[in-house]
Amino acid sequence: MTQNTLTKRLSDYQPYPFELEMVRLDFRLDPDATQVRARMAMRPLRAASALELDGEGLVLRKIAVDGRVLAASEYTQSDTGLVIHAAALPAQTFTLETEVEIAPAANTALEGLYMSNGMYCTQCEAEGFRKITYYPDRPDVMARFHVTVAGDAPVLLSNGNPVAQETGRAEWVDPWPKPAYLFALVAGDLVAHSGSFTTMSGREVALNIWVRKGDETRCAFALEALKRSMTWDEQVYGREYDLDIFNIVAVDDFNMGAMENKGLNIFNSKWVLASPETATDSDYERIEGIIAHEYFHNWTGNRITCRDWFQLCLKEGLTVYRDQSFTADMRLGPVKRIEDVSALRARQFREDRGPLSHPPRPDHYKEINNFYTATVYEKGAEIVGMLRQLVGPQGYRDALDLYFERHDGQACTIEDWLKVFEDSSGRDLRQFKHWYTDAGTPRLQVSDDFKDGTYTLEFTQKTDQTPGQGDKPARHIPIAVGLLSDTGADLIETKILEMTEPRQSFVFEGLSQRPVPSILRGFSAPVVLEFDTGHPPDSAFLLAHDSDPFNRWEAGRRLALQTVVAMAQGGAADPSYVAAIGALIKDGAADPAFCALCLALPSEDQIAQALHEAGKSPDPVAIHRAREALATALANAHEDALSALYDAMAVSGPYRPDPEPAGQRSLRLAALALLRRIDGGARAQALFDAADNMTESLAALGQVVAAGVGEAALATFRDRWQGDRLVMDKWFAIQLTASAPDQALSRAEKLVQDPLFDWKNPNRFRSLMSGFAANHAGFHRVDGAGYRFYADWLLRLDPLNPQVAARMSTAFETWARYDLTRQSLMRAELARIAQTEGLSRDLSEMSARMLG
Ligand code: BES
Ligand code: ZN
Repeated sequence: MTQNTLTKRLSDYQPYPFELEMVRLDFRLDPDATQVRARMAMRPLRAASALELDGEGLVLRKIAVDGRVLAASEYTQSDTGLVIHAAALPAQTFTLETEVEIAPAANTALEGLYMSNGMYCTQCEAEGFRKITYYPDRPDVMARFHVTVAGDAPVLLSNGNPVAQETGRAEWVDPWPKPAYLFALVAGDLVAHSGSFTTMSGREVALNIWVRKGDETRCAFALEALKRSMTWDEQVYGREYDLDIFNIVAVDDFNMGAMENKGLNIFNSKWVLASPETATDSDYERIEGIIAHEYFHNWTGNRITCRDWFQLCLKEGLTVYRDQSFTADMRLGPVKRIEDVSALRARQFREDRGPLSHPPRPDHYKEINNFYTATVYEKGAEIVGMLRQLVGPQGYRDALDLYFERHDGQACTIEDWLKVFEDSSGRDLRQFKHWYTDAGTPRLQVSDDFKDGTYTLEFTQKTDQTPGQGDKPARHIPIAVGLLSDTGADLIETKILEMTEPRQSFVFEGLSQRPVPSILRGFSAPVVLEFDTGHPPDSAFLLAHDSDPFNRWEAGRRLALQTVVAMAQGGAADPSYVAAIGALIKDGAADPAFCALCLALPSEDQIAQALHEAGKSPDPVAIHRAREALATALANAHEDALSALYDAMAVSGPYRPDPEPAGQRSLRLAALALLRRIDGGARAQALFDAADNMTESLAALGQVVAAGVGEAALATFRDRWQGDRLVMDKWFAIQLTASAPDQALSRAEKLVQDPLFDWKNPNRFRSLMSGFAANHAGFHRVDGAGYRFYADWLLRLDPLNPQVAARMSTAFETWARYDLTRQSLMRAELARIAQTEGLSRDLSEMSARMLG
């Protein structure tokens, strides 16, 4: 086969020529030989079509049409599926029956039906169902599923409502047609933490969180988060749950975070189980957000699904937008916005600046698993947020109501989605659509002018070329702007300017003084803002006065980045930044969680990116030193205030994961991190010894490790938690992220020898390897040994679990930023990966794209 036939293209889309009315699946579970019988009612939509079914790694035992076993000449089998010739098929609705055998215990890729800790579970998105049975495994083929499971396990679950349950056998019927990627089956010795929810129309829904025995004491938070999600979707989107039962199962071996299978969500246990002793504040927040995300998919993903996988951001971008809004409502909205933008910049902007840049709706791919990216998810969510700004809150709700009314039960495209906004608002969104179809982060340059009471803002937009896409047309960009007086008062209400031209001016009249502009409030569009000439805004002034919390924080971040970039090139800490941070600490008026975010310095990876964008090649060691030096300067300048803050933010009473105490802890720990630079880790050691919750315990552990005095604490922590997988994942990661760069590799090499390093478990593998790669200067050692170590492990994992290996290969996506020595070392590792015999399609596509 040529490269081209392996590439799938959006432009090649063809509807499936059969309608699948109903499917019956019968499973007889066995770790080594599970039997799957499938019976499908198929209605031909076009005369004389061959019937194509996907199937991988299946042993075919039987195939029959309307009860007649097919002769070998009537169908063709290949590695990827089976084609029944048109001549073998009736012209009217017929029943196709197949029997296949699969081996879940041998399934290390964790796609399809596999085993985790003695339990059976499935993961079918995107194309895992074809590893379970022969089927049209594409999201636009939707069918009603009726499933029978036979096996020894005490608990046997599938999608929908249970219709029969007896020892060793259960039957489930899902009344809602769905694509195969939403199928799920779970079987094991599980216990439930249960509750119930009454929907807005008064229906009672049974809720269960299924876990292994012993874990049921860690489910209460997730169950409450589920109820909050159900209430929020009713109140904010008018969406009610549609089955009598909602099950969530926690599994230890899972490639991703969680999965929205209809009525049977399957979660990485990391994102379900929580207790104060084992989960951090940010774990709690994330659990709440992921529970919400998967629940919200019931309407945005399941009831309305994607026509094909190019449309992935239709469900993921929208559902991320929904989960972000939910968390913003449950907690502090502005703090959540800052967290989301930070993540967007760290992951999506990074991706968009490198060889993996692609549009939120790609138009070709080789392996769809490689497109569950920050661009599809996080930028996809930003696009939804921009649409909401363009049509306003009520316009957004109207558009969503129309979307659900018009498309319920369908498999849709981005075009369908935009049409709903056009029809309900009357706006033309053709230019806006470029956000979906074009890659790259626009750069927005601003200059301003003030004359005779008239203030003019002039913007120029430019989007750099990206792989496979040349010059780009101008985007439709909502720019939220405020104007401040010289005392910091708002002169106007925040206004959304709509930029549609490559260069465009906006005029504000009747001003008595030159205003200070606050541009891109709330981060109203995913662009890079550059101040051109003349009057760059006074960042220290905005940090002190901007009424928009996002831009307040942004001003501080801009100052921090400027000074640390200068320091990495031999400069000194900017006194105005140090003073501004001092004012913030002493002010005491700002919310603690917000303050904590202002005290956090940009990551080394972001400093490297900023240097690269300034045309300099980043030196990882100099960056590390500069960042440490800036933190030390802040600590020295404000030692007393930080120390007082550290004491004042201590939370008394039993641990609660609520936003308020969590915010206090985050500020306390931000102060601790700065003070560590001058107290040698003494406060951190004391906190580590005294902590009664994982938030403080883990943060303190990180600080003593960073101070170079962490060996005893690491040993204590390991002794205490060696029996707890989720906590031990943290132990593996933190000692690599926090350790001195020159020790990171030797630590990593030692840790892979640890008997607890179960590298076939995705969480454990990621903890160690991503922890190592997050040690920026450690990973980018100039001798290339960090790259080699990392690549060796990717190659070791690839034959077992290509999906995880491929995702983690993005540690190399930034090669072009660095000096020629590092560039050639990183490229050499990518080339070594690319040339490996028998490499997976997943990792082969990634390494080829990164090499360009
Ligand atoms: N549908 C995905 C899970 C998925 C992704 C399965 C890729 C198979 C391949 C799910 O809804 C999801 O997006 N999960 C995220 C977490 C979420 C909160 C963004 C994940 O697993 O990382
Ligand atoms: Zn999702």
